[in-house]
Amino acid sequence: MKKEVQLEKAHCLINTGCVLLVTAAYRDSSNVMSLAWQTPLSGRPPLVGIAVAFPHFTCELIDKSMEFVLNIPGSGMLEQVSRCGEKSGREMDKFKVAGLTSVTAKKVRAPLIGECLGHLECGVVERYKVGDHAFFVGEVLAASAEEDFFSSNSWSDRGELLHHLGGKDFYITGKHKKVNLQA
Ligand SMILES: Cc1cc2nc3c(=O)[nH]c(=O)nc-3n(C[C@H](O)[C@H](O)[C@H](O)COP(=O)(O)O)c2cc1C
Repeated sequence: MKKEVQLEKAHCLINTGCVLLVTAAYRDSSNVMSLAWQTPLSGRPPLVGIAVAFPHFTCELIDKSMEFVLNIPGSGMLEQVSRCGEKSGREMDKFKVAGLTSVTAKKVRAPLIGECLGHLECGVVERYKVGDHAFFVGEVLAASAEEDFFSSNSWSDRGELLHHLGGKDFYITGKHKKVNLQA
């Protein structure tokens, strides 16, 4: 038997993209926020999309700078992910509060987070209003990942990533399976 799911919680059924720490910077301000609503969009050109609620400081900084970085935290960073998704960077320096190291990026002004396993540096090419979120389409200008965790274009078992189920609930990935279909 299947039970009804509240419409505003229906996204929890399909929300399985890995959690990211998004960084953005403009003039003297830089900030980091946790983000689960992300999606790859295109390979050539390499495009990704993120949904950021309008009131967030991150939304303001991306609107002003037209850049952002998607930092990929490993499962050991659950506490930092929770902290960066709890309060606004308008009230505090979240790099300090969460003990994150800001590292200069190659192509954008927004910083990389040194503790994360991988990074996608993006320039905004489109921006849509989607309900109560801004949807930013970013072109990936530079990407890097820890070689011990990401090889042959795939995360290994060691590359455990976090997936948000809503509220305080997360999944942790880390079991690599290769499928071989016989013709
Ligand atoms: C695991 C997790 C995932 C989140 N995903 C999103 C998201 O996809 N989009 C969004 O707008 N907010 C999301 N949030 C909420 C923001 O991270 C949170 O409101 C944050 O404090 C905003 O920070 P800022 O004002 O410094 O930008 C998420 C929070 C957590 C803990």
